[in-house]
Amino acid sequence: MPAVFHPHSSVAEEGLGMHEFWLYVWLRKVGIVAAHIMSLGLTIFITLLSRPGTSLFSWHPVCMSIGFSLCMTEGVLLFSSEGSPFCFQSRKGKVQLHWVLQALVAIAGGTGLGFIVASKNVSERPHLTSWHSLLGVATLVAAGCQMLCGVCLLFPKRVSSVARLRLYHATCGLVTYLLATGTLVLAMCSDWFQGTIKGALWYVCVLLPLCPALVVMNQITNAYLPTYQRRRSRYESGNV
Ligand code: HEM
Repeated sequence: MPAVFHPHSSVAEEGLGMHEFWLYVWLRKVGIVAAHIMSLGLTIFITLLSRPGTSLFSWHPVCMSIGFSLCMTEGVLLFSSEGSPFCFQSRKGKVQLHWVLQALVAIAGGTGLGFIVASKNVSERPHLTSWHSLLGVATLVAAGCQMLCGVCLLFPKRVSSVARLRLYHATCGLVTYLLATGTLVLAMCSDWFQGTIKGALWYVCVLLPLCPALVVMNQITNAYLPTYQRRRSRYESGNV
C-alpha cells in the first residue's frame, strides 16, 4: 500500500497507507463532531442542573460552563478544516469569530467569578478553600495571559517576532484549556455536584470534558508545534 503524502498532513499521518489514512481522517472528523456535541451538551446539562436564578451561586456554574466549556472550545475548533460549522469561512472571518468567542470567555469568566465571590461573601464562607477554587484561579490567570498575547497579536507591527508570539499565544491557550478542563472535573467532585449526580452518571460527567480536551490538544499541537520545529530546523541549518 503506497504511503500518503499530503502537504498539510501531520507527522502521524505521513507514511500511512491509503486505507489507514482515510480511517484516520474519518476518526478525526468523528472526534471533532463529538467534541462540539459534548461541550454543548455539558453546558446545557450544567445550566439545567444549577437552575439559574434560584441563588447567587446558581449563576457561577452557568457562566463558567458557557465560557470555558462552550465558547473556549468553539473558539479553537473553528480553525479546524474538518467537522467545524465555520470551515467555509475565510481565515479573516474565523479570526474575527475567534475574537468574539474569546471576549465572551472573558465576560463569562469575570461574571462567574463575581457571582461565586458574592455568594461566598453573603453566606460568610471563607474563600479559596478547595482544589477547585485554587485551580480555578490558576485557570483565570492563564486565560488572562493568553488574552494578553492575543491582544498583542492585534498590533503585529509593534511586536519583534510575530511567529514567537503566536507560539506563546497557542501554548498559553493549550495550558488554559487543560487547566479549565481540570477545574471543571474538580467542580464535579464538589459536594454540590455530587449531592445531585451520583453513580454511573457521575463517571459519565467526569469523562465528558476529556473528549473536547483531547481534540483541542491535538489541534493546537498539530497546527503549531511541528511548524515551529520546521522553522527551527530551517533556522539551525542557516536556511531561514
Ligand atoms: C473552568 C471553569 C471554572 C472556574 C475558572 C471556576 C472558578 C472558581 C473559583 C475561583 C472558585 C472559588 C471562589 C472563592 O473561593 O471565592 C469557585 C468555587 C466554586 N465553584 Fe467554580 N469554577 C469553574 C466552573 C465551575 C463549575 C462548572 C461548577 C459546577 C459544576 C463549579 C462549582 C463551584 C462550587 C460548588 C464552588 C464553591 C466551593 C469551592 O470553593 O470549591 N465551578 N470556582
